Amino acid sequence: VKTIPLAMESASYDIRIGVSLLDSIETESLIAGAERIGLIVSRTVFGLHRGRLERFMRKAGKYELIEMDDGEENKNYRYAERFFEWMLARGFTRKSVIFAAGGGVVGDFAGYCAALFMRGVPVVHIPTTLLAMVDSSIGGKVAVNISAGKNIVGAFYQPCAVVEDISFLSTLPDDELKNGIAETVKHAFLGEQELLDLLLAHDLHSIRNEPVMEELIFRSAGYKAGVVGRDEREAGLRAILNFGHTAGHAIESVMEYRGISHGEAVAVGLRAAMAISRRMGYLDDETMRRFDDCIERYGLAGKRIGLDPSKVISHMKYDKKNFDGRIQFVLLKAIGSPAYNQPVDEALLADVIAGLV
Ligand SMILES: NC(=O)c1ccc[n+]([C@@H]2O[C@H](COP(=O)([O-])OP(=O)(O)OC[C@H]3O[C@@H](n4cnc5c(N)ncnc54)[C@H](O)[C@@H]3O)[C@@H](O)[C@H]2O)c1
Repeated sequence: VKTIPLAMESASYDIRIGVSLLDSIETESLIAGAERIGLIVSRTVFGLHRGRLERFMRKAGKYELIEMDDGEENKNYRYAERFFEWMLARGFTRKSVIFAAGGGVVGDFAGYCAALFMRGVPVVHIPTTLLAMVDSSIGGKVAVNISAGKNIVGAFYQPCAVVEDISFLSTLPDDELKNGIAETVKHAFLGEQELLDLLLAHDLHSIRNEPVMEELIFRSAGYKAGVVGRDEREAGLRAILNFGHTAGHAIESVMEYRGISHGEAVAVGLRAAMAISRRMGYLDDETMRRFDDCIERYGLAGKRIGLDPSKVISHMKYDKKNFDGRIQFVLLKAIGSPAYNQPVDEALLADVIAGLV
């Protein structure tokens, strides 16, 4: 079992990573005297891993179970209201603990509900996708979607622990694995040399080997934890985690989240940020070659999508992370040297995007 301690202003907690971790981990410190215990779990994950989850929850004590329908469309207010009513009807108070098992949708939703119910109940994240293990369960961003956009309504609400059992990934389809790999590629180029070496030594098949996967998650989650530990509320540095997401989000939004996975969109976004960095004279050919190699190995290089570049650019202007409608990029000055809030010349941006979409 590997442990990443994360110390922030508002909370400190451990991210624990291991194979069959739910079987070996003790639950007493996770429960911490709570009078009511709840498990909110993705219906799909419960169907696939019921035995593992039930054994773990029985160790924790008597618990109430709620299965959540998967899908981004359920990360919303109405679902939250149903959840609050469910909790009240079962006598949950602030002296409770919620375990949230699933991908980023369940984690974001359960974290959001935990932040609001009676002004905050403890939540333990049990991420079950690679993306949730290396990204969404770490750092306390919780949110629901509204019709105007994704993750618009939310909070910073840190969990009391993150328990990452790699055994869940045995059932994760390759396309979902790739969504997580795209975030690990991002972390590798932002600043994790060993992670980059690991990615370049494997492919979509061999990376699933459990000790390799454990190392991948440890390095990638460790990188994110290091960043959010230094800038919990995104006053500055945390913005580097938006690397590849400026164009990536715009592409998803133009395509109305259909026909392209998050990982593929982020991969195009990373290619755009790398190409701009190269054209601005920051990156050398060898760095570009390593990047191309990395995304090709994991089936993230993709084909042209056939979008109108000007639409992609206008969607970038609406990104909630931009100021005054000016497009801000995270660029790379070298592997491990990102710079955030970087304005990019419009003609250069148009040329790069036209070459990619
Ligand atoms: N809070 C943050 O900082 C942050 C960061 C990145 C992304 N996010 C959010 O995360 C969400 C995406 O998360 P995701 O990629 O995990 O998607 P997801 O939660 O939709 O899960 C993807 C699919 O995989 C299935 N699944 C989950 N675990 C499985 C397993 N072990 N075996 C088989 N199937 C499994 C789910 O049922 C679902 O169908 C988005 O809502 C995004 O906004 C949040």
